[in-house]
Amino acid sequence: MSTPPDSQTVERPNSQPAPATPFERLGGRPVIEAIVHRFYDLMEADPAYAGLRAMHQPDLAPMRQSLAGFLTGWSGGPRDWFDANPGRCMMSMHKPFVITEDLAGQWADAITRAIADSVPDDPQIRDAMTGVLTQLARGMAR
Ligand code: HEM
Repeated sequence: MSTPPDSQTVERPNSQPAPATPFERLGGRPVIEAIVHRFYDLMEADPAYAGLRAMHQPDLAPMRQSLAGFLTGWSGGPRDWFDANPGRCMMSMHKPFVITEDLAGQWADAITRAIADSVPDDPQIRDAMTGVLTQLARGMAR
């Protein structure tokens, strides 16, 4: 005689915990902020990014806030930035700026360094984030 399935042991694939979002895997808001601060610190300090720096306002504090908010929601964390900027598209937002391949390369290089410095222990998420942001930046060049 067969025994009825025991509810304790039945496999329930849907009860698996959801996989971590990139935001969680990175280490959440503190790591996003570390990446963003490193990025703008490099932009301010390294002459290799002088062209990129010159396009920005003298005060980078609002940019630090905004990029951290964007990256938080974009990577699967709290979506406050998207709620505060409904329908705002990164590509269209950058249309007024003349972004040459050289400038896109400066952005891509600085974010690559910032991520490498801030996410040293997880090469998989580090490389994934670097790859997708680098592509996004290069896609803005014209
Ligand atoms: C491709 C090279 C890029 C260049 C040359 C560039 C340049 C700029 C400039 C000049 C501004 C305005 C700065 C200011 O008002 O002080 C800006 C704003 C911003 N950019 Fe970029 N950007 C690039 C790529 C990106 C990428 C790939 C992202 C996102 C992953 C991004 C995110 C932002 C954000 C969040 C803002 C602030 C928007 C706001 O709150 O008004 N940028 N960018």
